[in-house]
Amino acid sequence: MKYILLGTGNIANTYVRAMEALPGSELVGCVSRSGKRVQADPALPCWTELDAVSTPFDAVIVATPNGLHGEGIVAAARLGKHVLVEKPLGITVADMDRALEACEAAGVTLAVAYQRRTAPDNQSIKALLEKGALGRVFAADLSAKFYRDQAYYDSGDYRGGYLLDGGGPFMQQACHNIDLYRWFFGMPIQIVSMMGTFTHAIEVEDHGAALLRYSNGMIGTIIASTSTKPGFAARLEVHTGKGSFVMTDDAITQWHFTDVPNPAQSDFHYTHDGATSAAVTDTSAHQRILRDFEHAAQTGSQPIADGHSAKATSELILNIYQGAVDRV
Ligand SMILES: NC(=O)c1ccc[n+]([C@@H]2O[C@H](COP(=O)([O-])OP(=O)(O)OC[C@H]3O[C@@H](n4cnc5c(N)ncnc54)[C@H](OP(=O)(O)O)[C@@H]3O)[C@@H](O)[C@H]2O)c1
Repeated sequence: MKYILLGTGNIANTYVRAMEALPGSELVGCVSRSGKRVQADPALPCWTELDAVSTPFDAVIVATPNGLHGEGIVAAARLGKHVLVEKPLGITVADMDRALEACEAAGVTLAVAYQRRTAPDNQSIKALLEKGALGRVFAADLSAKFYRDQAYYDSGDYRGGYLLDGGGPFMQQACHNIDLYRWFFGMPIQIVSMMGTFTHAIEVEDHGAALLRYSNGMIGTIIASTSTKPGFAARLEVHTGKGSFVMTDDAITQWHFTDVPNPAQSDFHYTHDGATSAAVTDTSAHQRILRDFEHAAQTGSQPIADGHSAKATSELILNIYQGAVDRV
């Protein structure tokens, strides 16, 4: 497939590197308002708007700030191109609905780069939970205690603002982990949250906690932060009537069930450095997302993170913001 990158910043480099290892996938150009080239491939032809691209292509990778994903998706769909959009799908429900409608009307595939869903241990947990094999889950506690310094927020005018980031660690850095959480456990029926801005000069939160109640009674907790120095691996602790398991980033690191074998793939190492940086240097998960996207576009099947499923994750995050009883 031939791709155009919309956005030439940090994550654009990950796509350049991911595609180097994917025969049959090719970046044929990029779009930047300012004409800024992708650092990892400065020779890639560049246009200042998508409508002006004059080389043939099949798909667009939307890699602009969160608040611009919707308009990028709509522009690509109007050209009849398949769309792989960076996470999150969007930061408002209206914007996400417009994007979904545009892709459906154009008959193009829309996939979202929630690449952690492709990790083998996450897939095993999803399958076991769907089968009910682990018993009744009564507690699921996610700790996404990351760190970003002020220089990170100062590296882009929009970073740390509601308009284009759409929120702090809940919407931006921890949305991968919250996506997995929602993929595993679905939507809660009640949310209470507290958050604040503690260690950065930014508009959005940089630390917060949410308490979630599910219709089956499960009590969940989610802590998301970019203030917790030096930045820790994400940790998910899940407890059921039968036992418990712990995940560290995308790997099962503890397994306490006697009647269900541990599905952990011990040879799987995930080196995502999201705990301390926005750069994604391990491109293997993006390679899997690209392969999955291409399969969906070519066969008309659903990608692993389709638009509706990714919309639900943004909605959960928006509900966490709405459920805030206190903000400092
Ligand atoms: N999947 C992951 O693990 C992962 C990791 C990091 C980031 N991301 C996502 O990738 C997307 C891009 O993040 P990034 O870190 O690559 O951002 P970035 O480095 O700031 O790059 C943003 C790009 O968007 C373009 N842009 C267009 N309109 C803009 C505007 N009004 N303000 C600012 N930039 C604008 C910029 O180029 P011009 O200004 O020249 O047009 C730039 O090339 C975000 O949605 C982020 O959540 C995903």
